[in-house]
Amino acid sequence: MVDINTRISEITLENPLLLASGILGQTADSMKNILESGMGGVVTKSIGLEPREGHSNPTMIETEHGLLNAMGLPNPGIDVFLKELKNLSRESKPIIGSVFAGDKEEFIELSVKMEEGGVDAVELNLSCPHAEGYGAAIGTDPELVKDIVRTVKRNTKVPIFAKLTPFSDIVDVAVAAEEAGSDAIVAINTVQAMAINFETRKPFLGNQVGGYSGPAIKPIGLKCVYDIYQNVDIPIIGCGGITYGRDALEYITAGASALQIGSAIYYRGKDAGALIVEEMKDIMEKEDIKSLVELIGSAQQF
Ligand code: SIN
Repeated sequence: MVDINTRISEITLENPLLLASGILGQTADSMKNILESGMGGVVTKSIGLEPREGHSNPTMIETEHGLLNAMGLPNPGIDVFLKELKNLSRESKPIIGSVFAGDKEEFIELSVKMEEGGVDAVELNLSCPHAEGYGAAIGTDPELVKDIVRTVKRNTKVPIFAKLTPFSDIVDVAVAAEEAGSDAIVAINTVQAMAINFETRKPFLGNQVGGYSGPAIKPIGLKCVYDIYQNVDIPIIGCGGITYGRDALEYITAGASALQIGSAIYYRGKDAGALIVEEMKDIMEKEDIKSLVELIGSAQQF
């Protein structure tokens, strides 16, 4: 028997996999399905103060090696979302509320509302690569990130996670988030990218620019986690291209204490979490690794 429990701040996870924000995390039914299908917990869709339609179609395409999306942060707004969250009986698995905002006042209001709505932690989306004024527009400035995280921490009790983008110096931003009291770093969000339709001579996506995810970005995510691990003491939640159990274990050896799974649901179906957990356990048994925790950061070359 191998032990794949892990811990992020005060949250214990029965396995290290969390549904990443953006996929199936908006309705009580979709989150319940995912929890029942083997994930250790769920990160909700990123929620803002007001309802938002998002970018115009097409908002997602599959490319040769990954998925490109420019959803544009569509969501029903926090008040409607919290009514939905009430319908979710969570069987003791953690729910992390993801929020996006244009400034620190909005981040505070959203985080407090998420906390009052019963989430186990709040993830600050400081990294969406394609929504003007939100996400990466804010999360690439270490001083701004420090200010946002610090003021959210002062106004909330639940753990706060900072989800970061790889297209600035992610280590500087991670250090700033830690200094401000962040309880964990989530690395990475999707990578800013584009696909072009040669026949029409136009970008495919309605928003032209999108965020790239899936197997192609795994090496980028691994490098970010590896570098952040050398510079912060808080736990890291690895994300980016984790599709099979071996990918998950690679992220753990780079320094991740837990993981987020997004595009793998597209590639492997809603049971991706259960499949990845079984593959992790098989590899660990073959390699005689008793506990996941002993693997964290084991690929680091100090
Ligand atoms: C979206 O909903 O637009 C994607 C969110 C993100 O990339 O952070």
